[in-house]
Amino acid sequence: MFKTMIEEASLPLLIADSKGRIIFTNKCLEECMGYTRRNFLKNNLQDLCAPYEQSRYIFSCLPDIKRTTEVDIDLQQKNGEIFTANVSFAPFDYQRARHLLIIVRDVTARRIREVKTREDEERYRRLLVERNMLQDQLHRSSKVAFMGELAAGIAHEINNPLGIILGFVQDILEEIPLNDPLIEPIKIIEKETARCVNVVKNLLDFARLRPPERISVDIVELLESSIVLLTPRIKKNKVSIKRNFKMEPPSIKVDPQLIQQVFLNIMINAIQAMPDAGVLALGIGFVHKARSPESGDWIRISISDTGNGISKKALQHVFDPFFTTKGSKGTGLGLSVCQRIMEDHKGKIEIENRKGAGTICNLYFPLKD
Ligand SMILES: Nc1ncnc2c1ncn2[C@@H]1O[C@H](COP(=O)(O)OP(=O)(O)OP(=O)(O)O)[C@@H](O)[C@H]1O
Ligand SMILES: [Mg+2]
Repeated sequence: MFKTMIEEASLPLLIADSKGRIIFTNKCLEECMGYTRRNFLKNNLQDLCAPYEQSRYIFSCLPDIKRTTEVDIDLQQKNGEIFTANVSFAPFDYQRARHLLIIVRDVTARRIREVKTREDEERYRRLLVERNMLQDQLHRSSKVAFMGELAAGIAHEINNPLGIILGFVQDILEEIPLNDPLIEPIKIIEKETARCVNVVKNLLDFARLRPPERISVDIVELLESSIVLLTPRIKKNKVSIKRNFKMEPPSIKVDPQLIQQVFLNIMINAIQAMPDAGVLALGIGFVHKARSPESGDWIRISISDTGNGISKKALQHVFDPFFTTKGSKGTGLGLSVCQRIMEDHKGKIEIENRKGAGTICNLYFPLKD
């Protein structure tokens, strides 16, 4: 009789063990969440929550709950919709193990009533909609993009003050006599500030979501102009350039600024990998891939170096934002930026170790565009 009562109760209920594993759900909960019982029993309590709620403190102290505890938690239905619920956890012992009877009350409506004026109510509704949209966005865009936007928010704020500091420091350096003992510390301030500016720039590039503005571009010219920009570094590391252009490539439609940024990031990585001389080789060719999903004609641009290569373990992470093996000298955003830009161009980027020594980075641009 009790089982049937619980089963039929018009209040969403479930029972979980002290690890949060769901062991019983009633019909009302199934209707409210949109899951079947079988779905539920495979899940843990946290799986019912909105992603941002999953690490709530309450879930780590379920075994310690001594008396009925109520918490407002955002739950996520199977169709992805989020609602606010007042969840009560009532502990009881069954077969000598701690269990919890959990009652779920949808309080979205109550929350809305609580908001005093009509205007506030509207705002609250909008917030809920916005939050659901954000949730969707979070699902759609990868964790990567989310982190980037977050970081860029901060980066944006510190960009201006940094620029001002750098400007003043440079002014001081121009004014100060060369034999002044303060010149060294001020130069250090300049160098370190310039590094911060660079990190901020990388963060902003990384998060910049502007779609590419494509125009017809002579890709060889773009490669050559990137090399010119890097001349000081190329000379410093005694790097020689080898060109292996097997064809006159047709001009392709890309955003020259963004693609130059890709070239620069990859070339800088290559030059940094060859601190004591080496060869930076550039290649252009056509590739026809027969198998889907990459079937079709592509232009391949290869940038390779004879540097120290990438360890197998690092190779799995090179496109992860903030992954760097360069300590404080790198932000680990270069390749993530490249990958993002290439994806925005419907292209691809691959990086692998070269036979012998060094690394090769291949960029593919679809020809049909
Ligand atoms: N040509 C290369 N040779 C050897 N290792 C490379 C090469 N290109 C990339 N890597 C490895 O991939 C990592 C990530 O590269 P990425 O360009 O994203 O960041 P970074 O160069 O460390 O820092 P940033 O570019 O932000 O200054 C590098 O730290 C390095 O370990
Ligand atoms: Mg880099």
